[in-house]
Order: sequence, then structure tokens, then C-alpha cells
Amino acid sequence: MFKKRHVLTMREFSREEIDSVLDLAEKLEPNARGEHSNILSGKILALLFFEPSTRTRMSFETAMKRLGGATIDLGAAEGSSISKGESLADTVRVIGNYADAIVIRHPKEGAARLASELSPVPVLNAGDGAGHHPTQTLLDLYTIKKESHLDALSIALVGDLKYGRTVHSLAYALSLYEADITLVSPPSLRMPEQIRADLSSRGTKVREACDLATVVNNVDVLYMTRIQGERFPDPVEYSKVARSYSLTPEFLAGAREKLIIMHPLPRVDEIAPSVDATPFARYFQQSFYGVPIRMALLKMLLEG
Ligand code: NCD
Repeated sequence: MFKKRHVLTMREFSREEIDSVLDLAEKLEPNARGEHSNILSGKILALLFFEPSTRTRMSFETAMKRLGGATIDLGAAEGSSISKGESLADTVRVIGNYADAIVIRHPKEGAARLASELSPVPVLNAGDGAGHHPTQTLLDLYTIKKESHLDALSIALVGDLKYGRTVHSLAYALSLYEADITLVSPPSLRMPEQIRADLSSRGTKVREACDLATVVNNVDVLYMTRIQGERFPDPVEYSKVARSYSLTPEFLAGAREKLIIMHPLPRVDEIAPSVDATPFARYFQQSFYGVPIRMALLKMLLEG
């Protein structure tokens, strides 16, 4: 059901499909930790990043290489024919003839979908503007499954719910697991109306709040996000909400014993470094899980 398909948003995934990726990731974890494998030998993954990335780009690369495959990287747009005026459409058509799959991150919403319409090989959306980030969601679900539980989950999505693509994708996926979701954001950064409507039409329990303190003690997972400064049309508007949330150990005094704190990273100041040493922090573990998840996805797309 997976071979040669595009991965653009979480809306296109069924729960069975997600579970099959999570199950395969579990089997591939020893390889993510360094055990040798050749299952993707001879395969090439193209990396097209038109926006900064550390974890997504490097974990895709790690996943491919640890499974015996190779990567080719467009590098900075200034070093490619994009700087001569070549379109995204032409770039994708060309690279689709070199590689077996394409990972793309782009500042414009819909860029990955456009790429998928032109590419002869599977396209994986690694973030399209304020749109979606489905591979992040798969690793987020894997983290929740391993470090907490997916059934009867109570979760708060906190921060920039308007521009944050990770929380858009995660909210769709959580609606398949009957999670109880609390959306915590400043009023100007609420989850887009369309997504809230989709969640309620899927029967998902969603609450909204502005104050993190009222929510912290009643959840199993606290999913923190960065205010996405680069997406604001007006820097003055950004400065009004820039420091909306700052999680410190004091905040966590009444938290559930098994609470886990997640963050797709990079963090700015929404989680104080002193939280790292608490038993709740899972964000660095979460970033490791990007490797087995992307291994699983690549194996399913390239090998079936
Ligand atoms: C996120 C992204 O790029 O959307 N980062 C990531 O992929 N881990 C989150 C962010 O930039 O805030």
C-alpha cells in the first residue's frame, strides 16, 4: 500500500498505515543505532531544502546511509541553477530522473504538492511553509507510543498553532487515535479554523486555552513549539507574542508523574534549559526517533 506513493500531509494517512510505519520503525531501531544493513543499497534519495534544517535533513541522510543507500543534496539554492532562474517545477523534473525519491522543504505552502505532480518518483514533504510536516508527525507519534501511550491520550499542543506546521500535521494524526486535545496559544496564534473544523467533524475532543498553567497538570503529553518568527508578515506582531510561553521546572510541580514534554526543536526560549534535567523531558530522545521512522518510511516507499 506504500510503494511509490507521495507523503504530503497526514490527512491522507489511515490509522492502519500509520501503525505499520511505527511497527517497522521499531524493527529498524537497532539499525538506527548503528547495526549494519544493506536493504536500501543502490537507492538514492535527493534532498531539496529551500529553508534551514538540522534534524529533518540530517536524520533523512542518516536513515538512508545506515540502510546502505546514498543521498544527493541540491545544497543552498545559490549554488544551484535556481539562482539562474530555474523553476521548482523544472528542478523537480530533472532530479526525479536522478533519484529514487525526493525530500523537499520549502517556504511556500503547497510546494511539495506541486513537486509531487511533476515528479516521477515519490515526494516526501519535509515542511511546506506554515502547511504540513508529516514525517515529523510520524516520529512524534512514535515518541508518544514509546515514551507514553497513544490510547486515551490527553495532550496539549502549545505555542504557535497558526504558523506551526508540526502541530497542524500532528492534530490530524491524533484525531485518528481518539486523543483528548487541548490547544494552548495566544489568541492571535490559534489553530486555523479549517483544521479545527476538520477535527470536530472527525469527532475529536478539542479544547482551547491561552494559559499554560491551567493545563499542565491535566495532560500526559505537553507538546511545546517555537513561535515561528520567520512567518510573521510584521515584526511588530511577532514581538507581541514572541515570549508567550516559557516552561520552567516550577511550572511542573503539580504535573502527572508520567508526563512527557516534547518539542520538534529548535527551541528558542519556550523551554528553559533547566527543564532538560527533569524526568519529563523527551525532546532529545524524540529527535533520535526521527532516524528509525524515516528508515521505515523510506523502506516502505522504495521497497514496498
Ligand atoms: C520544525 C519545522 O521545521 O517545522 N522543525 C523540525 O523539523 N524539527 C519546527 C520549527 O522549526 O519550529
